[in-house]
Amino acid sequence: MLLNLKTIKKVIKNPFIVFKYFKKECTIYKDKIQILSNFFNKNEFRKFKKELYESGLIDELKSKEEWFYKNVEGKTVRGNLYGFGSMKYEEMEVIYALIRKRKPEILVETGVCNGVSSAIILYALYINEKGKLYSIDLPEFTEKKYDTNYFWEGKKGAAVPMGKESGWIIPEYLRLNWKLIIGRSQEKLPSLLKQLKSIDLFFHDSEHSFDCMWFEFNEVIKSLKKGGIIIADDINWNDAFVKFAEKYKKHAYNYKAKVGIMEI
Ligand SMILES: C[S@@+](CC[C@H](N)C(=O)[O-])C[C@H]1O[C@@H](n2cnc3c(N)ncnc32)[C@H](O)[C@@H]1O
Repeated sequence: MLLNLKTIKKVIKNPFIVFKYFKKECTIYKDKIQILSNFFNKNEFRKFKKELYESGLIDELKSKEEWFYKNVEGKTVRGNLYGFGSMKYEEMEVIYALIRKRKPEILVETGVCNGVSSAIILYALYINEKGKLYSIDLPEFTEKKYDTNYFWEGKKGAAVPMGKESGWIIPEYLRLNWKLIIGRSQEKLPSLLKQLKSIDLFFHDSEHSFDCMWFEFNEVIKSLKKGGIIIADDINWNDAFVKFAEKYKKHAYNYKAKVGIMEI
């Protein structure tokens, strides 16, 4: 702030401008290279990514996705075609690499559906040889009749085939460090966090309404350890993630225009 006559006059007129100037502003970084270099050393991200693709897990998950699209058809009560509803693999790479690098012990996820994100998170824990994932999901089953207001009005077609369960694509050997909690995150998250006391990483991919995302982030921050991480998919659906970063004056990252990452 340059102290010229114009600025001095402005400050006399509105002294609060000084507080605004010194307030730590938050920035949401969007550049992929900048994001990766903030979290990883040179070549580290590439090494983790290679490890994930060479594991055979992604091929296994993709073949289950193929099965889904060959065998599932129909629409939700809201008129959306049923879909696999998973995170994209290129978005999961950064989450996988972060978990490999930071080696978190207690992780909480909301939004499992068929289980792509859970499987990849669990694989990172398996290779780390430490960590436990707690996942909350309110699944929508194909062919099941629901009241129109059972799920939030903006929900698309992400669904679990009738006869299967949330996370059905997760290989057996990864389930040892996994606890699945079925229910609405608004009801299940507070008691889970109370039981866990503190957590290292939170991943949101459940109800992308402003109210639900705002609720989850504000619940979770009370339990996140210092240096802990909040990750959220579809932060472009509303401004909850950005508002949350502003509320806590945190710099944050927007990876591939929709995955929010914030370090606490
Ligand atoms: C986009 S899908 C999750 C995809 C998953 N993360 C993946 O990568 O495969 C969202 C899931 O959250 C569930 N869901 C919707 N509203 C929810 C709520 N309020 N609480 C918990 N889960 C919810 C949906 O039914 C669905 O199973």
